[in-house]
This record gives sequence, structure tokens and C-alpha cells, in this order.
Amino acid sequence: MKSYRIGLIPGDGIGPEVTAQAVKVMEAAGSLFGFSLELTHYPYGAEHYLSTRQVLPDHALEEMEGLDALLLGAIGDPRVQPGILERGILLKLRFHFDQYANIRPVRSFTPGPLGSVNAVVIRENTEDLYVGIGSTGDGAVNLPLEVTRGGYVMKGQLSAFTTPPKRFAMQVAWHTLDGAARACQYAFDLALDLGAEEVTLATKSNAVRDLYGIFENACHQVASQYESVSLRVENVDALCYKLVRSPGDFRVILCPNMFGDIVSDLLAGIGGGMGLAPSGNVGDRLSMFEPVHGSAPDIAGQDRANPVASILSGAMLLRHLGETSAAKAMEDAVQRYLSGPVEELPIEMGGRLGTRGAGDAVVRRLEESP
Ligand code: NAD
Ligand code: IPM
Ligand code: MN
Repeated sequence: MKSYRIGLIPGDGIGPEVTAQAVKVMEAAGSLFGFSLELTHYPYGAEHYLSTRQVLPDHALEEMEGLDALLLGAIGDPRVQPGILERGILLKLRFHFDQYANIRPVRSFTPGPLGSVNAVVIRENTEDLYVGIGSTGDGAVNLPLEVTRGGYVMKGQLSAFTTPPKRFAMQVAWHTLDGAARACQYAFDLALDLGAEEVTLATKSNAVRDLYGIFENACHQVASQYESVSLRVENVDALCYKLVRSPGDFRVILCPNMFGDIVSDLLAGIGGGMGLAPSGNVGDRLSMFEPVHGSAPDIAGQDRANPVASILSGAMLLRHLGETSAAKAMEDAVQRYLSGPVEELPIEMGGRLGTRGAGDAVVRRLEESP
């Protein structure tokens, strides 16, 4: 029997609650479709950090090289200063394994007040403001870069920005032509697969010319290689407006990293809830699958979280490994479950089922499948 080596990082808050349901459904799918999961548990997250001061050690990254995929719950805890765990674990993994495309499908399972959505956000995942180069200080900072401001170039010292010197913070946003192009190519190939006619790019080059200008240029170059898919360019502010007004008009949405973060939560809200939106961080090396949502400390430990996003992330993982029928069966089981009686829906969707109950309900639908 085929066996897949999966690294499991349950993480914080509702992370362990929802990944337990995803693993349960994936294992049930394995029994039906003839494969097994060899799970390696990783303890990284707030508890581990608070007791050891260790975030994510290098030896774990080396060990992970031998895995087929990672399944992650969520990272982040109110007891730890924001950014320590998120940057140190989650973003570290995305950057270390060069997971350059973050695929975030959002689909309304039940009609929402704003209409139905069936879209995929492709979020560039290794550049933009997320590169993590920044500093704070008082007065002057020596920059490693040339900075353009108001059309002229300033070199060396940022103190010239503030006279007299004030406390400042700066953060570098970075795009490369190739980095944008590979995410864009992913989006166009996906559009071809889905039979979509256009890819919508979220940009903001009207205000931030260099950074989003290079992203647009990369996309125009890629788009010229595709005959049946066209590029539609929208400023991200207007795009958010249009998504709320007519979400059904969009099928594939390509975003630079930061806009993709925001647009995907907006779409999750339109599509029926944070607990429904899965994602995959993919690249040419180890890929990682996780819900779009975070650790939700407000509902953690109460068996209230919707596990569907994690279950659907598990389905994306299996599809990535080539287990297409199992992935489809899991998605169909979720679809059948969510089309059932309202009182059996997850609490987030107005029903009564907690995290475990919703996971069990999906397993039942899977095992009933034809
Ligand atoms: P969040 O996504 O955790 O929560 C936002 C809202 O959505 C909350 O009201 C929460 O209760 C609700 N929600 C989220 N998932 C849900 C689910 N499965 N079922 C029902 N309701 C759900 O965002 P936040 O509050 O900004 O962040 C909380 C923590 O999570 C922070 O530490 C943040 O840094 C971290 N975070 C981690 C990830 C990740 O690991 N991928 C993603 C986002 C946020
Ligand atoms: C996400 C999260 C992360 C991000 C945070 C926790 C660093 O919001 O996965 O969407 O900004 O990418
Ligand atoms: Mn986010």
C-alpha cells in the first residue's frame, strides 16, 4: 500500500482542533482509496516557545526535506508578542521552502447575502513587504538601498526624511521580475485548467509605482504567452469594492503578497466564513497546506471552530500528491455535508455541530459515497 510522509504542525489555538479533524478525514479517505499516512508531529508553536524559547530549529527544517508535504493548523498566540511565532515558524517555512504561490480557493457552499463566489486567489508568497527587512530607530538609519522619494533619489541616510529627527520605522517591500512572473504563470496555468477567460491582477501602481509597476510588467509579459486567457488589471481598492458588489464576476485573482492576505480574508467572508477557506503554499520543493484562518484565540479550546477549511486543505494536499480521486471524494463529502440540514452545520454557519461533530459528519458522508 502506498504511504505518504506528512509533517503535521498543529500549532496554536484552534490549530490542533481543526487539524485533528483534517487528519481523521484524510485517513478515512486513505482507507477507501488504498493509501496510508505516515505522520510526523512537530510541536512548534506558542507552548513549545514558552517552555523552550525555541521557535523553529534548523534541524527540523533539514528533517522536513524528506517529507512529501506539510499540513499546518495555525500559528500565533496572545501570550507571545505578534510576529515572533508567525514570522519565526509560518513565514520561515514559506520562505525556506520557497513556496512561491499561495493558492486560496473560495467557494460559497450555500448562497450568501452578497451572492455566490467561486474564485481562487493566487498570492505571491515570497516577496513584497514580507521579505522582513526593516528597522526602527531614532533619527538616522543607514540604508542598504537607494530610496526614491517624491521623484528624487536619496542615498544613505533616512534621517533626511525627518528634521529634526523623529522616531521612525521602515520596512522594505521588494519585488523581482522573476518572482512576480512565476506567481503570474501559476495563475495563468490555473486559469487554463479551469477554463477561465481572464486573470485579474490586484495592483496599486497608481500610488506605489516602482513596486507594483514591476509586478504589472511581469504579468503583461507572461500574459502575452497565453492566447485564451487575458489579463485584467484592477487597483486593489476598486477590486475589493467590486468583489463585495459582484463576487461572481471573478474566477482567478492574482495578488502581491500583502494584498493577497487581505483579499483572501475578504473573500472568505463573502463565501460563508473563515472556517471554509483552505490554502496551499506551493513551490518546487516541499509544499505546505493550511487553512487561511489563524489560531482564533477567541474560540480556541471550546470545540466551536469550523474544521472544514482544514479538511479542504487536507484535500488540496492529497491532490498535490496525485491522489486526485481521494481529494475529490473529500471535497464532495464536504459539499454534501454543507448542503444538509441547517442544524447539523458547523456553529460558524448557524448550525449546532462543534469541531469534532462536523469532522465526524464529513467522515460519514465520505464513507457513504458511491
Ligand atoms: P483569525 O483568522 O484567527 O480569526 C479571525 C476571526 O475569524 C475570529 O473571529 C475567529 O474566531 C474567526 N475564525 C477563524 N477561524 C475560524 C474557524 N475555523 N471557525 C470559526 N471561526 C473562525 O485571525 P486573527 O484574530 O487576526 O489572528 C489570531 C492569531 O492567529 C494571531 O496570532 C495571528 O497572527 C494568527 N494568524 C495565523 C495564521 C496562520 O497560521 N496561517 C493566519 C492568520 C492569523
Ligand atoms: C495568513 C496569515 C499570515 C500572513 C500571518 C499570520 C503572518 O495572515 O496566512 O494569511 O500574513 O500571511
Ligand atoms: Mn491572513
